[in-house]
Amino acid sequence: MTIPVQPVLDRRHRPLRDLRISVTDRCNLRCRYCMPREHFGPGHRYLDAADLLTFDDITRLARVFASLGVRKIRLTGGEPLLRRGIADLVARLAATPGLDLAMTTNGLLLPTLAERLAEAGLRRVTVSLDSLDDTVFRAVADTPVPVRRVLEGVDAAARAGLTPVKVNMVVKRGVNDGCVLPMAERFRGSGHILRFIEYMDVGATNEWQLGEVLTAAEIVRMIDDRHPLEPVSASHSGEVATRYRYRDGAGEIGVIGSVTRPFCGDCTRARLSADGKVHTCLFSSGGTDLRALLRAGASDEELGTAVRAIWDAREDGYSELRGRRRTRSREDRVEMSYIGG
Ligand code: GTP
Ligand code: 5AD
Ligand code: SF4
Ligand code: SF4
Repeated sequence: MTIPVQPVLDRRHRPLRDLRISVTDRCNLRCRYCMPREHFGPGHRYLDAADLLTFDDITRLARVFASLGVRKIRLTGGEPLLRRGIADLVARLAATPGLDLAMTTNGLLLPTLAERLAEAGLRRVTVSLDSLDDTVFRAVADTPVPVRRVLEGVDAAARAGLTPVKVNMVVKRGVNDGCVLPMAERFRGSGHILRFIEYMDVGATNEWQLGEVLTAAEIVRMIDDRHPLEPVSASHSGEVATRYRYRDGAGEIGVIGSVTRPFCGDCTRARLSADGKVHTCLFSSGGTDLRALLRAGASDEELGTAVRAIWDAREDGYSELRGRRRTRSREDRVEMSYIGG
């Protein structure tokens, strides 16, 4: 059964196309730029199980968002594979027709779960990996786990057909900029798409500084010097990564320059937190609580009206404003691990 769609535009005429659903705020890594251990150690308060949206809630909201134009759903976390029964949720979401269903994960649990996820209807995954060097990886992700475990996750995803597998590398100057070329060379010709992400000032805990951003232009130059690249046009409007391909046919890479090349003008993404708040920007502070509506017995129509009102009022464009003025103080911002990147 197809869902009748009544598209909605925000104040800047941007449609609602993508929904990123965070299914947990927990993670089995502690990347320094995302969940620094001094803030996410034993004293940190995670959401209680009772706070989380149920699979019924999530499936219902996904259909409501689809009725307003959402075509792509990406499951995120924290680490989405830590959510118990995640393959069952995938199966339920996959039953909604016309949706592209993807996931962003750190890959550690993919060897166990990739096949089940693919059978349940997940189309593709993006795996985060910041270095091939155990010493650098362990320092960045603050973990004793070796890189090999993430690479096994990438392989498991490819074997299960969750392709093309994308690999996300957040690049921090002075930390893993020396890993850009080895990563490019490892994934050239592999069929996987490596994407380099400029380190962002998201959340309130990572003590971001502009000087730590290795820019998209610098990253492209580093690779192009050794392995000549040429630009590729975007595969769809609103794509966050600028694409390039190797001139020798060894595949493509992407560069996500949200600091130096903001893409707010085409931003069609809404984010749903694990406890049911809708955020219309990665850099937002407060979200709108849909869980309260769900628990008060709202109908699909009422939920649709609420989401439409949120999107109607949307003006966000944080990355465009970053250099010009501070829109809000950092302390107020939600964490990446809560809203899923
Ligand atoms: P596909 O286009 O389907 O491959 O997915 P994607 O690139 O949207 O998903 P992914 O989770 O891999 O996103 C890549 C990274 O880009 C995120 O983790 C963020 O770091 C960044 N990003 C994604 N969306 C936004 C956004 O709306 N604003 C900003 N500033 N950064 C974003
Ligand atoms: N800057 C850029 N990317 C980040 N991610 C997490 N924190 C940051 C940050 N501060 C990335 C992760 C993952 C995706 C969900 O977001 O590496 O690939
Ligand atoms: Fe976990 Fe991903 Fe954040 Fe790293 S970036 S701590 S893997 S949620
Ligand atoms: Fe969208 Fe906000 Fe990112 Fe701009 S900063 S692209 S509005 S999520």
